[in-house]
Amino acid sequence: MNITITVVQNSPEFGQPEKNRAEIARSVLGQSDPSADLIVLPELFASGYQFDSRAEVEDLAEPEDGPTFRFLSDLSDRTGAVIVGGLPIRRSGGVSNGALAVYGKTLLASYDKIHLFDEEREFFLEGVRPLPVVATPFGPLGLMICFDWLFPEALRSLALSGALVVAHPSNWVLPFGPQGMILRSVENRVFTVTANRVGREERGGRAPLTFIGQSQIIGPRGDIIVRAPSDAPALLRARIDPEEARSKKVASRSDFFEQRRPELYLSLLP
Ligand code: ACM
Repeated sequence: MNITITVVQNSPEFGQPEKNRAEIARSVLGQSDPSADLIVLPELFASGYQFDSRAEVEDLAEPEDGPTFRFLSDLSDRTGAVIVGGLPIRRSGGVSNGALAVYGKTLLASYDKIHLFDEEREFFLEGVRPLPVVATPFGPLGLMICFDWLFPEALRSLALSGALVVAHPSNWVLPFGPQGMILRSVENRVFTVTANRVGREERGGRAPLTFIGQSQIIGPRGDIIVRAPSDAPALLRARIDPEEARSKKVASRSDFFEQRRPELYLSLLP
């Protein structure tokens, strides 16, 4: 069954969550046909990325059922889509760099990023729960956030847990992410949906960050189904059949998930 995926590439203004959310709503709902099965938004899509103090993180953090949940829930009601997007989530003892998957009034999953990138390590709690795979009307959906991609184990865990499509909210700054995700998709034979942002942040005397856009949907055979530009907001839309990711058979006698040799790989671990 074909499904429609919308990917939002925005350019948020730091510390202006209401304005950033409103812009996304305008752009998604302004399409001639806003309906979709899955909508993916970037990491920290409404808060902005480059925090300068823990106080700032605390100030922009929200509970799981806060304004971002209500925004995603409302957008889900209006589009019929499962929606995934990133936000700073208030947890006991601090704030995570998190993502929510929302369908109507239901919180399908909340995820706290387990591989924090660079300056994030000053500000966020490291996630301690496994990467989630949730049931959706179009099959199992996995979640990971940005830098998680560089740990092959992350997407492998999601694929081994049955994910056919992986939503990947991102704030990519490293240039090799978009190409790297092609191999990740091939080696797990899953669809990956990366929503990145564009723009520049330079806050608190820190080194400037330029976000590289290139939001994309990659197919299980490594095809670039759609990719956005590197320097402008964009809305991508594509139709895919998640079932194409079900079989891991690449030749008549080679199902590469069945052929794994974990007992031998384990000997490489410390
Ligand atoms: C990143 O994980 N935001 C690079």
